[in-house]
This record gives sequence, structure tokens and C-alpha cells, in this order.
Amino acid sequence: MDKKVTVIGAGNVGATAAQRLAEKELCDVVLIDIVEGVPQGKALDLAEAAPIEKHDAHLTGSNSYEASAGSDIVIITAGIPRKPGMSRDDLIGVNAGIVKNVSQQVAKYSPNAIIIIVSNPLDAMCHVAYEASGFPKNRVIGMAGVLDSARFRAFISMELNVSVENTHAFVLGGHGDTMVPLPRYSTVAGIPITELMSKERIDALVKRTASGGAEIVSLLKTGSAYYAPASAAVEMAESILKDKKKILPCAVLLQGEYGFQDLFIGVPVKLGAKGVEEIIEIKLLDEEKAALKKSAAAVEELKGVLKKLA
Ligand code: APR
Repeated sequence: MDKKVTVIGAGNVGATAAQRLAEKELCDVVLIDIVEGVPQGKALDLAEAAPIEKHDAHLTGSNSYEASAGSDIVIITAGIPRKPGMSRDDLIGVNAGIVKNVSQQVAKYSPNAIIIIVSNPLDAMCHVAYEASGFPKNRVIGMAGVLDSARFRAFISMELNVSVENTHAFVLGGHGDTMVPLPRYSTVAGIPITELMSKERIDALVKRTASGGAEIVSLLKTGSAYYAPASAAVEMAESILKDKKKILPCAVLLQGEYGFQDLFIGVPVKLGAKGVEEIIEIKLLDEEKAALKKSAAAVEELKGVLKKLA
């Protein structure tokens, strides 16, 4: 294929993202991991499924970054996932070191790539990747809002018994307990859900969305969600690879937008061939602004932890 995407971390999220990229025939895929044999084995297994799945994407696995050279996009999923009782923030000590090292390698071998970060705690890991890669801000993007919005959409569809395709949702802010689902901008066939559900039911869905990751962790017990996170990362990659210019909520570096300075946080952006092509500032009510501010404060706090770790 004429596009190349490298997925770093051939674990649950990484391997699932590789599968979705290949089966949608978006690009050739390189899987990289530190564990010997795992990226090679998973890439070969996926390649052997290709005749049945009917795609011609080439899949390769490697422990060396040379295989990733010249990638158009690099999706970073390397790191540890959380276990029951852990918050995403608890991962910061281990994952900051991993994401720093990985981002330096990405910058060396794929200097023109667009990085999509999946490793948690998401917004803090975006700061690490931005600094370690030295890439411009339009080429470092965090995957969180698309996943959180998909979870909100799934719950709206279950609640109202309507097609998921009719649902649209917006979740802004950091990827944690303080995320900001916006019911006013969440719709079913264009109708705001505030017209379709009671405040109590909306509040319940908002709460379930904010703890959506923890709900999966408590069920799986040995790790965290990966099907929906992989889908979300691939939707972002597809918009970039095809220059679709989709408006998606993503974690990007704000420099004045929404009143925040030098902070990665989730806001609606336009994703195209250049990566982040526009940050869209939507009007927020005072209470929504306050919620976003609280969420930003939580990300600022993690930035402080990163400074201490450095
Ligand atoms: N370089 C490359 N790969 C690495 C490195 C590294 N320095 N360190 C760890 N890995 C690999 C592991 O070997 C493992 O295969 O990252 C992979 C992570 O996979 P899983 O443990 O299955 O975790 P996963 O569920 O995929 O989550 C990965 O994404 O959603 C987030 O919170 C989640 O931070 C976690 C990340």
C-alpha cells in the first residue's frame, strides 16, 4: 500500500489497531515491541488471515525501529495498562519513561510522521511525546475524546434503543475522571439528547461515560479496554491518511485556545493530511467552562509530576 503506519506496542490495543488498519486496507502496518517474537508472531498471524479477510496490506513485526522508518503515522500504545483499583494516573511513573524513549526513536526514524498517543495517562503522555520527539504541535495528537465519545454514544443508543449510527456525542477535557461530556452537543439524528431524556438519565450516562474505562478494567481484571481504544485510534489515523478532515475530539496542545496555555487537553479538532489542521472553539456555558477548567487543573497537576520525574 502507499501509506505506512507503525504501531508501537504489540499488546492488546496495538495488535487490535494493527488488525483494524489492515482489514480496512488503509496502509501497510509495522508492529514494534520490546518482547522478542511477539510483534513478529502477531504480524505473521494477521498476514495469514489476509487471504480470508481479503486485504493486501502488508504486515511486519520487529523489535527494531529500523523497520518503522519513513512511517506516515506512528501510533504509540507501548506501556503498562491499569489493573482494578488503579487510576490512569498511577501509570505515569512507568509509562513516562517508555513513551519518552519510544518518541525519540520515532523522531529518529520517521521525522515526518504524525504521532497518535494511546498510552496512559493520556494527556501527560502527549506532553512527554511532544517534548521527546521535538515535533510541531500539529503532529502530536492524543487519542481520548473519540473513545470517550464512542462510549457515550453506545450508552445513548442502548438507552433510547436507536442505531449507534444516529448518535453523535462530544466529550472534552482530560482523559480521566474529570472528563467533560457535553449533553447539549450530543444528539440523536440531530436532536439534542437534552430533548429526549430526563436530566437524571443523562446524568447517569455521563457518569458511566466518565468511568467507562474503569468499568471495563473491573470486568477484565487483568488489563484495560482495547477494542474500542483501537477503533478510536484507527478512526483518527483514517481521517489523516485519507485527508478526510473529520472533526473529532482529540488531545492537542492548546496555546491560548479555550483560555489554556501550553496544555494538552481534549477539544474538537479537524484531522487531515497535516495532522491537526484546526482547533475548533465552541461556545461553552459557564458550568461547562468550569468543568473544563477543573479537568485542565488535573492535567496541570500531572505535568507537575512529570517535572519531578525528569
Ligand atoms: N517499547 C515497545 N513496546 C513496549 C515497551 C517499549 N519500551 N514497553 C512495553 N511495551 C509493550 C509491551 O511489551 C506490551 O506488549 O507494550 C505492550 C502493551 O500491551 P498491553 O500490556 O497489552 O497493554 P494495552 O492494553 O495494549 O495498553 C497499552 O494503552 O490504553 C492504554 O492504559 C493503556 O497505557 C496502556 C496502553
